[in-house]
Amino acid sequence: MNDSLRNLPSLSYDELIELANSSFPWHWEPSVVADRSTRMAVASDPDGMLLEACQRQDAGEEGVIDPFWATTWRAATGLDKYLDQLNLKDQQVLEVGCGTGHVGFSAAMRGAQVTLTDGVYDPLILVHLSTWSVRDRCKVERLRFGVDTLSKKDFPFIFGSDVTYLRQLWPELLECLEHHLAPEGEVYLSDPFRIISTEFSEWIKNTSWIYSEFSIDLPDDPAHPIRIMKLTRG
Ligand SMILES: C[S@@+](CC[C@H](N)C(=O)[O-])C[C@H]1O[C@@H](n2cnc3c(N)ncnc32)[C@H](O)[C@@H]1O
Repeated sequence: MNDSLRNLPSLSYDELIELANSSFPWHWEPSVVADRSTRMAVASDPDGMLLEACQRQDAGEEGVIDPFWATTWRAATGLDKYLDQLNLKDQQVLEVGCGTGHVGFSAAMRGAQVTLTDGVYDPLILVHLSTWSVRDRCKVERLRFGVDTLSKKDFPFIFGSDVTYLRQLWPELLECLEHHLAPEGEVYLSDPFRIISTEFSEWIKNTSWIYSEFSIDLPDDPAHPIRIMKLTRG
């Protein structure tokens, strides 16, 4: 693996731009985050990247990770909107499976100290760029569910948007939450009411976690709201 990826936090802004340019097509996209107009660094061809990953998998290559990070999912916009209801000022926040980092960026813009994480390095290059203006409140690290642990492990808030889409991820995701959540902490996961996440909501009721859910409307498509799933320790 490219050493630059392991050393992302030590790279300058120009070095990050250079690394992004040499990794995949990307661009700045005007975005609304935490109710404010800003811009985010996003992959320019998420469909092409997914197709390429599928072709490599079909050709028998092992360990190819689907680049689902390359799209910003509506679930992230919904969770960003829900954060209006939490007081995050000076709170320690962990975002898991951050992808483009929309939710963690929102938490940082709301005054939280945020650790944005994903299981793969590529999105973290763009997350560093997107959060550059609030970098004093952001750490960006790789965190694979069920594999890695951070040295810090008592986050009062953990957020994850669209991270319940694969059944095999659930036990590893819970392990990650269990390890990093403070005793009285709260986890908020979001999804666009996918059938698989409804199964997750049923499955988790058979664990020790206490589950509740809410719905958030988004103006782009009010007929398809976003589900916010709140988990606390039982
Ligand atoms: C559907 S995307 C959602 C991305 C982002 N949260 C959003 O809503 O735009 C799922 C994310 O989970 C990450 N992911 C998948 N498996 C993971 C694992 N085992 N550990 C950590 N992250 C993982 C992917 O890399 C991807 O960024």
